[in-house]
Amino acid sequence: MLKDFISSHHKSTSRNYFERMNPDKKECMKIAAQFEKEYWDGDRKYGYGGYRYDGRWAPLADRLIKEYELTNESKVLDLGCGKAFILFELQKKLPGISLVGRDISKHALKDTPGELTADLEILDLNQRDCLSHFQDNFFDLTLSIMTLHNLELPELESSLKEIERISKRSFVAVESYRNWSELTNLQCWALTCNSFLSPREWEFLFEKTEYSGDFEFLFFT
Ligand SMILES: C[S@@+](CC[C@H](N)C(=O)[O-])C[C@H]1O[C@@H](n2cnc3c(N)ncnc32)[C@H](O)[C@@H]1O
Repeated sequence: MLKDFISSHHKSTSRNYFERMNPDKKECMKIAAQFEKEYWDGDRKYGYGGYRYDGRWAPLADRLIKEYELTNESKVLDLGCGKAFILFELQKKLPGISLVGRDISKHALKDTPGELTADLEILDLNQRDCLSHFQDNFFDLTLSIMTLHNLELPELESSLKEIERISKRSFVAVESYRNWSELTNLQCWALTCNSFLSPREWEFLFEKTEYSGDFEFLFFT
């Protein structure tokens, strides 16, 4: 089901789309796609331009807890957790909750909040069997926020199928576009996106993979 958990927060960030589309962009993309220090804490042209904990995800954690009826007994996986700020917010509100975070980035996983006690490990969603060790329906909730559009279609397909298999409920937030203007903005801005899909294409893919979880589209207006 379509959700509206993140869009208002996403819209509040200011982005100069056309400034980023310059002759340097392909070099910046190469560096960004390593998802290491430059991407997180280097110059803005490589990614976040400095991503520090500032509590911005606290309202999302409240919404997730309410919507998915999370408790101290729940098990939650975040695929592409980055610096695990969302998991940290969940832990602050539900100290007994079991949290698992996976990400391709060594830099991000080394820079998670010190008090976080989650199970955090490197994982590359491009490795097709990377989730195969998790049992069916193991997690009460699997999250993947602003991550899956970085994959190409074959791995996107296998990831969605695996998320469906290992999770009782799930929520994925992905970049998308509704018109030429938003596609242009996305193409100018995105450094690491591989799957530029409209909502109709995303929903086609959800149906094909039998992904029955929740989703949200982030647009660049
Ligand atoms: C835009 S960031 C979002 C991070 C986090 N979900 C958040 O919202 O703060 C995209 C994340 O996807 C991760 N990522 C990209 N490709 C990946 C892959 N193939 N396997 C696992 N994680 C990946 C990056 O390292 C990064 O943490």
